[in-house]
Formats: sequence, structure tokens, C-alpha cells
Amino acid sequence: MPIDFNSATKLIMLTTDTTTYQMKVDPYGYLIHLYYGARTSGDMSYLVTYADRSGMCGCPYDVHDRTYSLDVLPQEFPFQGSGDMRSPLLVVRDAEGAFGCDLRYVGHTISNGMFSLPGLPAVYSEEDDEAQSLSVQLRDERLGLEVELLYGVLPHFDVITRALIVTNAGNASVTVERLQSACLDFVHGDLDVMTFNGRHAMERRPDRHRIGHGSFSVGSRRGMSSNQYSPFMIVCDHAATEFNGRAWAMNYVYSGGFEAEVERDQYNQVRVQMGLSDDRFSYPLNPGERLVAPEVIMAYSHEGIGRISNIMHRCIRKRVCRGYWRDRRRPVLVNSWEAMHFNFNGDSLLDLAKTAADLGIELFVMDDGWFAERDNDICSLGDWRVNEKKLGRSLAELADQINDLGLKFGIWVEPEMISEDSDLYRAHPDWVLALPGKAPTLGRDQLVLDLSRVDVRDNLFEQLCGILDQAHIEYVKWDYNRCITDAYSRTTTDQGKVLYDYMIGVYDLLERLIKRYPKVLFEGCSAGGGRYDAGMMYYTPQIWTSDNTDADNRLTIQYGSSFGFPLSVMGAHVSACPNEINNRTVPLTTRGHVAMAGGSFGYELDLNELPGRAFDHIRRQISLYHEIENIVCEGELYRLSSPMDDDVCAWENVLEDGSEAIMTAVVLKVEGYAQANYVTLRGLTPGANYRELTTGVVYPANALMDMGMPLPVNTEMYASYLYRFERVEG
Ligand code: GLA
Repeated sequence: MPIDFNSATKLIMLTTDTTTYQMKVDPYGYLIHLYYGARTSGDMSYLVTYADRSGMCGCPYDVHDRTYSLDVLPQEFPFQGSGDMRSPLLVVRDAEGAFGCDLRYVGHTISNGMFSLPGLPAVYSEEDDEAQSLSVQLRDERLGLEVELLYGVLPHFDVITRALIVTNAGNASVTVERLQSACLDFVHGDLDVMTFNGRHAMERRPDRHRIGHGSFSVGSRRGMSSNQYSPFMIVCDHAATEFNGRAWAMNYVYSGGFEAEVERDQYNQVRVQMGLSDDRFSYPLNPGERLVAPEVIMAYSHEGIGRISNIMHRCIRKRVCRGYWRDRRRPVLVNSWEAMHFNFNGDSLLDLAKTAADLGIELFVMDDGWFAERDNDICSLGDWRVNEKKLGRSLAELADQINDLGLKFGIWVEPEMISEDSDLYRAHPDWVLALPGKAPTLGRDQLVLDLSRVDVRDNLFEQLCGILDQAHIEYVKWDYNRCITDAYSRTTTDQGKVLYDYMIGVYDLLERLIKRYPKVLFEGCSAGGGRYDAGMMYYTPQIWTSDNTDADNRLTIQYGSSFGFPLSVMGAHVSACPNEINNRTVPLTTRGHVAMAGGSFGYELDLNELPGRAFDHIRRQISLYHEIENIVCEGELYRLSSPMDDDVCAWENVLEDGSEAIMTAVVLKVEGYAQANYVTLRGLTPGANYRELTTGVVYPANALMDMGMPLPVNTEMYASYLYRFERVEG
């Protein structure tokens, strides 16, 4: 069974195909973390050592026992007040303002299927017998505080997830001052931490360093998971590589502010944790109220960091992404933004659509600028009514004309925002997040609507349904272009709730819309990749990865994004050169190869500006993409080299059964009379032969995975190569 409880030893064991996770209830009722590693059996209690360690933080229930201190022991759910002075998962204050609680085991239940979380996205199971859930109940008698620790085990996906619910079952109010969802306590190890950092238009660049004493954290105080730091973290052996060594990962299923922290303590033990940001967070719970901590997906592998990525990819692709589009091929799209920005009308859109249809593009996306008076970015957000004058026709007519060309039709929206210059703002100035008496900070000239309010969400739902019902719209790009600076809601006196309640409100609005329009493909976006997280992926099975479409920068952005998130979600487009963000020129072939690394492929340029000969090239690009997209989306990814450190950036996608593979390589350094670059492949069937489909040459897999494949010598900067391999029978 995936979850097992030994009543004699009070050991709880979770098992996936290749991992084991253990915790145990100790004699005082505290939950001790024992193990998360390679699959094993037996009781790992022997890993925990008890010794006299000066007793500065002793045992609350036995003053004479100097060998017991929660400040030292590996814990499953460290909370403030236990004597553990490391970073806690939970901090609570009572009605008098006093800090501290004492949570001990009361009982547990095991059930089939994955747990779900009220109001929040979570990993789900399709069949009840593919997963089990564990609920461990802890209780603080003084406060009447109950904590339910939730664990979901999906054995064949090799993931364990954690979340928790804090309930005030007492008679007085309490306030939750810090709430993290998961931690892993390591009793020893020389470990590195990997985080993914960036900024607008340069997201998720990997960063790796050794975990030293003290604590190191990344996070977001922006009310969004952010362009700056990804809510995904890897901890690995200092010596671990893509293909070897132990690695653990945490992926937060939440799109708001977060914190991911590693801490090395006085005994060289390491605590890793992930959860809500403490920033502007202080959540009161009246008697009977509860607070849900979002889920964290955890993975472990002793086969290197690459394996961790593939575990995350499969779990998010199949058990976070949902609905009609989960397993469907995503249409190749053309988006009007980099082609026209705000300067379009119905006719120019149709001109672009005609060429797109001729080239084999399948979806036309009308980006920003189609509603109210929106001809620039300083007005009209909030007024979701079609600018028929600008389009020269109704939305239905435009959609029909585009459909008649053989294209699907989609639109851009940014519902969570409002412009001061909008009818909605003039009618409801109190609907924004803003502090009374303080001028709100503007971001892209806009304010954030208070989505913690149900009346605001109802208004947006009605406005959006009004648009989606009036035309044949099959795709919606859901944007979010600023962070939350002034987290003040007029509906509450507890402002420490607002950022969390805002996110719950966003999820509620999205859930209502995807229920009502189950076949509409929603693509997430947040100034590019500002909400590129597993929480959004529950609602939007594809996300615009970055506003930066330069193929060179994209290599790094997509490489970094691939550590935690599946390629099927990754929106990647071919755009014009010189690139509008960094002025770089890269060959069209390379732009195509780089964009094909994502499972949501498209174009974002004025196709009519291209020289005629580019058209055949694009037709061939699209047909190549159709031939490989299932390998990109469903295959295993091997990052063969790094765009940041190597002369060639190469990656490989291999179908799980090894029958087909593609390898793409982009040259990032050229020298006079250069030496050859060799790319060593991975994941092919040992002993088999593979035919490269363009040349027909047959290669032995063992040689490809040993000496590798030479790339053409003396090539140009940014030359790229895409090889397709098919296993040859016999
Ligand atoms: C954001 C998005 C872009 C585009 C613009 C439109 O920056 O990331 O792709 O949609 O908004 O205003």
C-alpha cells in the first residue's frame, strides 16, 4: 500500500515506485521526520540520534531528559513554541497576543484518492486506486487549535504532496502569523540549493550554491509568484549533476507571494521549507474558522536533477493541468502583440490572419487593444466592451471571418486590473486595492481590483461572459501585468488576510469561467512569465513563458523553466528580428528550433512584413512541429548542455518507450578553424539502432550515448540543428 501505519511503532510510511518517506510519532506525541529517499523498507528511526546537547532547549514534558530537544530533532511539522528555534512552518498568536503553540499527534486517517483543497488548486487523482491520502491530526489543547497535515501519494508518478489546514476549534480567536506548507529536515549532508531567479523578460535563470550556515531564502512579496523568483526549488548533493546524485524538489501549487527557504543549523542539519510569504500576512481565525495552506509537490531522485524535472513534468502535465486541453495538441498560434501592439483595426487583423491561415497556423489571437478606448496602456482596463469602431465590425463578425479562413479565434484579457481612466473605476473607485489617504502606487499605469471581494468577481464574471458569449472564442490569454503594492481591502479590518484572500478570489473566478467554458483554451500570462507556477497551471494548461522572444535569451529562460515545469505548458513563439527587446538578430531556422522546445508553439510578428521566401520556410517549420510536438510534450527531457556555460546548448526529448527522439543544438560560440562540437545523447534504448530521419543515416544508440554526435564544423553563431531519431527494429 502507498501509505502504511505500524500501530506498534507508530511509524507512518509513504511509498512511491522509487521512493520512501517516513515519519513517526514519538513518545511525547511529536511527529519526527525520519526519511525521504530511495525506496526501502524497515524502520528508519535509527537515523535519529539522541544525545546530551547541553539542554538549552529541552524536553517540555521531561525536564530530566537532556537528550531530547526539538531544537535538534528532525521534525515533520516544526511550529513556533516547541523549543525548536529554527525556522518554523507555523507561528500562531492567541487572543492576548502571546506567541506559541504545542501541537501533538491526536490521530490519523488514510483514504483512497488524492485530497483536494477548498478553494485552492491541487494535484488530483483520476482513479481512486491510483493514489492515497493521509491526514494526520495534531492538536494544541490550550488554544483548541487543530492542524491537519495532508499528504497525497501518487505512487506511479513518484510524487508526494503536502498541504495542511489550520482550524480554530477553541473558544477565542487566534492569529496565524506564518504558514508554510512543507518542510524536509536533513540530519546531515553536503547539499546545494538551486533556485530560479530573474526579472521581467529574463525569467527563471538557474542559480546553484552550497548551503552554508544560516538561512537562505528566495520568495515573492509581490502578490504573485513573480518574474523574479520561481516557487520551485531543488536541493541536491553538492556533487549531483543532471544525470547523477541525489536531488529533492519542492514545487508550490500557488500563484501568490511565497517563501522558499533552506537553513543549515548548529549541527549542520538542513531544513528546507516552502509556503506563504510572511509579507503583509497575519490571518486571524475566529472560533470555527480555518485556513488552508496551499499544496507543495515533492519529488526525490538518486538519478540526478534531470530525473526530478521529468517527475515534475509528468505530474503537472497529467495531474495538475486539467480538462479538455490537457491531452490535446495545442493549436499553432499567431499573436497580434509583437506584430501590431495597439495599432490595428479589423482589416489589418484580417490581413495578418489570412497570411497565417495560408502558412498553416491554426489559431489567431487578438492581443491587447480591442476593447473600450484602449489604444495605449493607460486606459480602459475594467471596461470589457468591444471597440467595434476600431474593429470596424462586431466581435462575432470578426471571429466568423477569422473562422472562415480556417483559423480558431482567441482574445487577450487582463481582468484583475483596472485603469483609473475607465468607466468601472469612475463607478467603483472603492473596488481597487488602495490605502485610504495614500496615493496608490501605479504599475503600468494600472491598479489592481480587489478580487477578495465577491461583488468584484461577480462583476468581472458577468463582463467576461458577456464577451465570451457574443462571439466564437476558443482561446483566452489571461494577463496580469503588475504586482500588488497596496494590499488594502475596504471590506475587512484584517488587512493581513488580503493577499491570500485575493489569490483565492482569482482562483474562484478562473474556476467559474473554466467550468462555464470548458473547451476554451486559457493561456496564463503575467508580464510574460510572472505567474509561471503549478497553481496557474491547474487553470491554464499553457502559459506565456516570457515577454522576451529573443532566441538566445529564450534558451536560458526555457532551460530554467524546464527544471520545474513541463514543456507542454511552455508558450514559445517565433518573433521578428532584430528582436524588439534586445535588438539581436538570429536566423529564422534557429528561432523556430528554439520556439519548438515549448509545447505551445506559435508566431508573434507581422507575417506580411517577411520576405516571400520566408513563407515556405515557415510552412516547413509548422509541419516539422506537428511531426515532433508529441515528443516535445510527452517525451522525457534531457538537458544535454547549458546555455549559460557551454559552447553549444543542446537538449533532447525521448518518448518514454525510447522509440523516437529529437535532439536540438544551438551554437553559442564560434572560433576560427574550430574544433568539432560533439553532443552526447541520453535515454535511447541501449543496444538498439536509430535512424536519423532527415539523412537516413543509422546510428548505434550506444555510440550516440557514448562518443555522441558531431555537429557540423565551422558553423555560424546561432546556427541550430534538429535531429530526429527513430529506433530501427531488428
Ligand atoms: C503583457 C504580455 C504581452 C502582451 C501585453 C499586452 O506584457 O506579457 O504578451 O499581451 O501585455 O499589453
